[in-house]
Amino acid sequence: MRTKLVVGNWKMNNTIREAAAAVDSFIKIVDAKPDVDVAICPSYLAIPRVRELLKNTHIKVGAQDVFWEEKGAFTGKVSPAMLYDAGVTFCIVGHSETRGRFGKVETDPATLSVFCESDLTINKKLQCLLFYSITPILCVGETAAERKDGKTDEVISGQLGGALNGLDPTELYGLVVAYEPVWAIGTGETCEAAEAERVCGSIRQKLTQKLGEDEANTIRILYGGSVKSSNSRELFHQPNIDGGLVGGASLDPEEFRKIVMSA
Ligand code: PGA
Repeated sequence: MRTKLVVGNWKMNNTIREAAAAVDSFIKIVDAKPDVDVAICPSYLAIPRVRELLKNTHIKVGAQDVFWEEKGAFTGKVSPAMLYDAGVTFCIVGHSETRGRFGKVETDPATLSVFCESDLTINKKLQCLLFYSITPILCVGETAAERKDGKTDEVISGQLGGALNGLDPTELYGLVVAYEPVWAIGTGETCEAAEAERVCGSIRQKLTQKLGEDEANTIRILYGGSVKSSNSRELFHQPNIDGGLVGGASLDPEEFRKIVMSA
């Protein structure tokens, strides 16, 4: 039996002070539901403050990205050792926004190459996080055009294969995978629960082929993409959906609280 997991991805929102205020407004109620695992992924800068506020609760702190080298001349990057030192438990890897694949593009196409995550960098990030016992939340998902062309399963299978390439199945215990259809992220358009379940089921099948049934059954598969309190219950109660990766709605403490309760 996999414990449900709800992760709030705050993206580039909330200053340190705003982050503290948000945590303060949901901490008691969310902490009173220990049967659901919960994590918040604030900006790097707000991690220490959020971690401090959550330290006597069951709510964990996650990061939104990582660089794969331990230290050195990598201006602007944050290493897995730094995340570990800051008490980070989870780390998002391969989010469509770090891959440069946007559901709602507001980014100048000329700057899109800044967001240049590839299967290879995702694979390196997974390896270094596992070494530090930080649980990766590996994001996969298709764009609207890929779905229209009937390529959903092929794209996701390729992303999983690239990310997990060469990794030892025994090291992947506790890995989290998030199915996030790119067209549903930040658009208000949610994937129907039955279709999300179908894709998450096929992700588990692919994991079973790669890692074996026992290992695949320990992996939590989340759904992400315009999750809100009005659709979370139906989504989270599908057999292969073990919770959610929540962006926009996690910024509203009342909404976030309701989403956690629905799990
Ligand atoms: P959203 O984002 O809930 O705002 O659609 C989800 C995510 O990107 O993780």
